[in-house]
Amino acid sequence: MVDEKARILQLREELHQHNYRYYVENNPIISDQEFDFLMHELQDLEAKHPELFDPNSPTQRVGSDLNNEFETVVHTRPMLSLGNTYNREEVADFWQRVSDGLMGAPFQICCELKFDGLSISLHYEDGRLIRAVTRGDGVQGDDVTANVRTIRSIPLQLPVGGDWPRQFEIRGEILMPWSSFDRLNKEREEAGEPLFANPRNAASGTLKSKNSSTVAQRGLDAYLYYLLGEGIPGDGHYQNLEAAARWGFQISKHMRLVSSLEEVFAFIDYWDTERHNLPVATDGVVLKVNSLAQQKSLGMTAKSPRWAIAYKFQAEQAETTLRQVVFQVGRTGAVTPVANMDPVQLAGTQVRRATLHNADVMAALDLHVGDRVLVEKGGEIIPKIVKTLSNSPLKGEDKDSLPLREGRGGSIPFIDRCPVCGSKLVRYEGEAAHYCPNDTGCPPLILGRIEHFISRKAMNINSLGPETVDDYYRRGLIHDAADLYSLAPALSKGEGDAIALFTPPLEGKGEAKILASIEQSKQVPFERVLFAIGIRFVGEIAAKTLARYYGSMDKVMEASMESLMQINGIGEVIAGSVVQYFANPVNRAFVERLRGYGLQMEIGEQQKQAKSDMLEGQSVVISGVFQHHSRDEYKALIEQHGGKNVGSISNKTSFVLAGENMGPAKLEKAQKLGIRIMSEEEFLNLIEEDTRYVQPTH
Ligand code: IVH
Repeated sequence: MVDEKARILQLREELHQHNYRYYVENNPIISDQEFDFLMHELQDLEAKHPELFDPNSPTQRVGSDLNNEFETVVHTRPMLSLGNTYNREEVADFWQRVSDGLMGAPFQICCELKFDGLSISLHYEDGRLIRAVTRGDGVQGDDVTANVRTIRSIPLQLPVGGDWPRQFEIRGEILMPWSSFDRLNKEREEAGEPLFANPRNAASGTLKSKNSSTVAQRGLDAYLYYLLGEGIPGDGHYQNLEAAARWGFQISKHMRLVSSLEEVFAFIDYWDTERHNLPVATDGVVLKVNSLAQQKSLGMTAKSPRWAIAYKFQAEQAETTLRQVVFQVGRTGAVTPVANMDPVQLAGTQVRRATLHNADVMAALDLHVGDRVLVEKGGEIIPKIVKTLSNSPLKGEDKDSLPLREGRGGSIPFIDRCPVCGSKLVRYEGEAAHYCPNDTGCPPLILGRIEHFISRKAMNINSLGPETVDDYYRRGLIHDAADLYSLAPALSKGEGDAIALFTPPLEGKGEAKILASIEQSKQVPFERVLFAIGIRFVGEIAAKTLARYYGSMDKVMEASMESLMQINGIGEVIAGSVVQYFANPVNRAFVERLRGYGLQMEIGEQQKQAKSDMLEGQSVVISGVFQHHSRDEYKALIEQHGGKNVGSISNKTSFVLAGENMGPAKLEKAQKLGIRIMSEEEFLNLIEEDTRYVQPTH
């Protein structure tokens, strides 16, 4: 049990990082398939341990590509992702589920290609493109309209007199065709700039560019695959897309309507090989129930619709020779073995490096320099070695009787010291990776800690990006996150210093902006400071719990293992980690410096009264006459649980707390907008306030 709990915490942490690398940095280090496997493992473990539920678990959201530089807008309808699978049985199960869900009624499935780019939501009004929004975290995304306008296959104005509805939304995928991708990477190579790993990253990086003329030059393209809104032409998804094609949208010509599972498999088989002849990257097929009425009756799960599924193609493989293994230290301290190989053509690109993940994977592969190896590229990102061929038995051969590798290089051991700082590596119980433990002295780890410190959910120093941090660190301007707060005095000494500090000048953003956001971070509440200092296993939730329980940094620093473990939600792993963190004098000194710079080291007055954050982010309207508490008391209760009391009902209202005689106009408005009406008892149950002992106030 303890192991499974630790594994859940570890998977959450890892998936959060992979999410960030994928959606924000456009620089994933694992393939989609590996990501999905980790996610499935976490989903299974969480299902087994409902007591460890965490609303901030990566399983509870669909990833985020939110970028601080664009305006964030809330989606009119949430952008859900699709359930996905890599095997045919699950496709057959999907078919069966649909058939059962529709009580055996006949249905058609629309088979489509799964385009490998980034999803976009386009809004049209009176035939004009008015807004384009990225998926973001599924609830809100970035407004990238100016950039999207430069994509030539997206119509800005629909043909006058067409049968398009006055208002609608159409979703699809923004892609960088292989031809544009190859050209762009060639230019970047010549300019000595880092290359994009695949067209999806290139498309995503391009769409997030601050300069729309860059976007215009990069040759992006778009395929649309989902029409939404009232007044769309008919009940058929396929037919609606045909209409959208008439209005000028680029709709894939490879969609097929089918009525049997055999036809679905035929579509999958055909495109598994034929996709390599397409001008854009695809990574699977999407199967959708065609009738909108049937879609509606099948409904949704919390994360994805029950009427659609994505089948992902298996990764491609090729054979080559292993030359060397090098070891890389990541920002978390995890050491990753990387294979250098003879270049080989794989999934459209030349591959010379492959990840070997960890010591166990390396040992299982039994690698020797000079081995023939089978390389796989899942999700067309970083390839990996799946098998050594030189010691695989041939047909009819017994593995144990195979000859030794004569004339080949020796076997390759895993290292026991950090290749960067020389510290002895450690392997935590239940973890696959070896770690460099020197988090206060090893450069990649220090950078990782600073990046975590400035991140949005921590100190939110949003004018600084990882590249600037790397740059400052390399130039010796900062040695840890606390040094950020001494950049300001250095600057105020005079212009000469400012120039020395910020050369070369930062593109588009002045040093003043950086200093202002560093200064502003001093107001960030204590719970986020506690999260920001980077105690292993102390995520946002644990930091909040600790902050509320102890109230100040001093108390957290003094807390014993016994005291920590009494707290609901804090187990052995987190407690041990907190104690260990503050046992290190370097960490204590770091915290003291932060205190000296004026960061919040205690919870605020309002939070002292907080009882929970179960209503965080929720806007609640109070209406009617109540039995158990006065209106003011309810207002206070809402605030004590992290919610906001607002006066009037709008589509932003989370629910209405309704007493007797709620005004008819309010009731009608709430019903029209589909907003939940909650009774007094329901609300009190929700916040677990025991009404039996509460005196009626009137
Ligand atoms: S339909 C509710 N159709 O795959 C249905 N998605 O997780 C929404 N994608 O986020 C999506 N090609 O970015 C759909 N033909 C297609 C697609 C497609 C690619 C992407 C999309 C979505 C992800 C599924």
